Amino acid sequence: MAVLDIAYIGRLYVKYQIDLGKVRDAQRSYLAERGKAMKPQLDDYEAEITYLLLREQRPEAVVEIGTFHGWSTRWILSALRDNGTGHLSSFDIVDNAVKNVSADLSDGRWAFTKGDVRENLAKVPDNTAYLFIDADHGARFARWYIGNLFPVVPPKTPVSVHDVFHGRRPKPLSEGSVVIKWLGERGIEFFTPSTARAPEATEYLAEVKEELGLDIPVRTSSHNPMIFFELP
Ligand SMILES: C[S@@+](CC[C@H](N)C(=O)[O-])C[C@H]1O[C@@H](n2cnc3c(N)ncnc32)[C@H](O)[C@@H]1O
Repeated sequence: MAVLDIAYIGRLYVKYQIDLGKVRDAQRSYLAERGKAMKPQLDDYEAEITYLLLREQRPEAVVEIGTFHGWSTRWILSALRDNGTGHLSSFDIVDNAVKNVSADLSDGRWAFTKGDVRENLAKVPDNTAYLFIDADHGARFARWYIGNLFPVVPPKTPVSVHDVFHGRRPKPLSEGSVVIKWLGERGIEFFTPSTARAPEATEYLAEVKEELGLDIPVRTSSHNPMIFFELP
């Protein structure tokens, strides 16, 4: 993977601006149509960066842990549809996402497993090439996926983890603090759009988006604690 920094992400916004614009419009309309039946969690930067990385990396197998109402699921499936290839395996204890993922997005490219991912590890494809984690935000869960999930996906798999930087530092005893410590011990760099941690990232990307005409919000949230990195 190329060095994951704001300049690289900015270039991806330029490269995929037309397709991204269409997905943004579709997601905005879907959100308005579904009202309270869709409670999105990812903010626009997190969702768009996920979409852009999936477009650029073209993974054949993607794993999503934590679908809730299916907001991130819809973004991920939109990227696979636009790639014309790729399959998503999603896991959640609740199945609200199933109602929010239309057949044009899911047909032939989505498998949803209802249940605790810790009891469904065998369903994680061996050829996973992108891992999206937005589930249980406790330290114990982070220790579980570091010890059990990371070893069963290929080396160099791109990973994103939500709820890390709600402030400049992860909260003590949280998922974020466990993951950041693990990354630090291995010298693995990460990228975050978190306005709380790295305000220069969203300042720069806001300028890029304005120039490209991608600045009408899809949803109003400035909460973007996600990190993006690559496994060793
Ligand atoms: C923050 S929500 C996900 C939001 C979603 N990614 C979005 O963009 O809207 C977290 C989800 O993780 C699920 N979850 C928590 N622990 C889990 C586990 N052990 N296995 C599978 N899903 C889990 C919860 O049921 C919840 O729906």
